[in-house]
Amino acid sequence: MKKIVILISGRGSNMRAIIEAKLPYKICGVFSNNPDAEGISHAKHAGIETCVIDHRDYPDRVSYDEALGESIETLNPDLIVLAGFMRILTPGIINRFSNRIINIHPSIIPAFTGLNTHNRALATGVRVHGCTVHFVTPDLDEGPIIAQAALQIKSDDTPQTLSKRVLALEHKILPKTITWILEGLCSLSDGQVSLDPKIFDDSFYIQR
Ligand code: GRF
Repeated sequence: MKKIVILISGRGSNMRAIIEAKLPYKICGVFSNNPDAEGISHAKHAGIETCVIDHRDYPDRVSYDEALGESIETLNPDLIVLAGFMRILTPGIINRFSNRIINIHPSIIPAFTGLNTHNRALATGVRVHGCTVHFVTPDLDEGPIIAQAALQIKSDDTPQTLSKRVLALEHKILPKTITWILEGLCSLSDGQVSLDPKIFDDSFYIQR
């Protein structure tokens, strides 16, 4: 059975969506840099191995990522999912697990990489907003795009309502994307993702 590792920093609702999707893969570990991450206790309740590696115990990003990488490598995962992992990874760990790390980001990349995406979408006045799953490369939030889901911004949306509506889309596309990758329906070459035509589904992409 293929194996997934999930990295979180907080609430862990995307991690829960993966668990609840009951995918035919083993979630062999949930890692967090934050000892107080809510998602950790949920993973424990679900009987999943958890590991907290607190970034405050390391002098710099490189040494932290070295320790994290060592620990992840013992599990030999097929895929590492950053599901609300709020740390920028250094090239060392990204190259160590080359093409095996994906991230979920709450905007339609290339718009609004970085933080506060919902506020920025509203301030900019875009009419469409959403989320993206992409492979992780050393460029923050800019790796090859695998899946995106979009919604129409309503005139009464606030950063809070938008965040909630986008999160619901995140919970749909993340488990799907994991399946695409682990079933070989998605391949990466020369920095571009190719998707098998059979996974196209118009209704999945745009939601009001
Ligand atoms: C999500 O919006 C994700 O896109 C972003 O951080 C948030 C994490 O939420 N990277 P959760 O911890 O999965 O609930």
